Amino acid sequence: MIKVLVTGGAGFIGSNLCEALLERGDIVTCLDNFATGHIENLLPLIEKYPNCFKLVVGDIRKLEDCRKAVKGMEYVLHEAALGSVPRSIKDPITSNEVNINGFLNMLIASRDEGIKRFIFAASSSTYGDSQSLPKEEDVIGKPLSPYAITKYVNELYADVFARTYGMEYIGLRYFNVFGRRQDPFGAYAAVIPLFVKQLMRHENPVINGDGEYSRDFTYIDNVIQMNQLALDATNFDAVNQIYNTAFGERTTLNQLVGYLKEFLGEFDEEIRKIEILHGPNRVGDIPYSLASIDKAKSLLGYAPQYSMRLGLQETVKWYWNNL
Ligand SMILES: NC(=O)c1ccc[n+]([C@@H]2O[C@H](COP(=O)([O-])OP(=O)(O)OC[C@H]3O[C@@H](n4cnc5c(N)ncnc54)[C@H](O)[C@@H]3O)[C@@H](O)[C@H]2O)c1
Repeated sequence: MIKVLVTGGAGFIGSNLCEALLERGDIVTCLDNFATGHIENLLPLIEKYPNCFKLVVGDIRKLEDCRKAVKGMEYVLHEAALGSVPRSIKDPITSNEVNINGFLNMLIASRDEGIKRFIFAASSSTYGDSQSLPKEEDVIGKPLSPYAITKYVNELYADVFARTYGMEYIGLRYFNVFGRRQDPFGAYAAVIPLFVKQLMRHENPVINGDGEYSRDFTYIDNVIQMNQLALDATNFDAVNQIYNTAFGERTTLNQLVGYLKEFLGEFDEEIRKIEILHGPNRVGDIPYSLASIDKAKSLLGYAPQYSMRLGLQETVKWYWNNL
């Protein structure tokens, strides 16, 4: 049993992490300001775990809020950030304030509290314009968006805090995570929840570009496994490292839409016939993304259980029952 602060715990990935940690018997505090997260993601946990789960409503841009949340904790899973490349292009200042200043606040609060390990949500966007495939942790290019800059700066700060103050960190470069509770609403919804919602409403999804861009779509349960391995790792070599967090398989947008029609078509035949539209490519998007997960396998013992298709089937079922 360990005491873990999950920042951004009201969001998609954070709420799944809170739930998984509580299920295995850990004591969990969540810090969130509900910028993009939802209290509904936490209500079942508040009810089920009154003695093991605490919610601190606060903003990582305020050092005092970070200090309050981290008090008495042993580990931090730092998930709070403003996601989305387009959001950061529209409003780089706010993305910078939350993703960089907020990150630094959390590092300082964690350092001063003597946190054992600071594990954080990094991003595949850090690979930027690097052409090499599969992506290996040490070979990155230039960032293609303000969001990508913020996530790379996080890695640099974590490393400097490890060298300067002796902190332990693990950074997890998430690759297009999807699954239950990912928000399908709002201007910056991710492609899978957005397309599922549109198909369920018999609307026409619009693919940016010709649909041949590809992603290493990663099911949430694989991400939970990586976070638990990062928390529990005891070998010295495994800490103060960055890891790709992915399944290690490439799916094009055209394939994705095909799978969605297939799986949703089992609930509603009409969905199979919905026409898919195409728009222009989006500024800041990486064309092809595929992770090497060798480092996570060898140093953390990562063994992802959900392929893209298996995870997508679970996800579609969840949206069908909950949307
Ligand atoms: N979903 C993905 O595919 C993906 C890919 C790469 C990296 N990431 C990173 O993973 C993390 C979680 O992403 P997610 O998809 O769950 O997004 P999300 O928007 O669902 O969750 C982010 C959470 O952070 C909270 N938050 C935002 N600003 C805050 C602030 N100033 N103070 C306190 N809380 C704040 C939000 O309210 C929300 O609950 C983020 O750091 C994101 O950059 C996600």
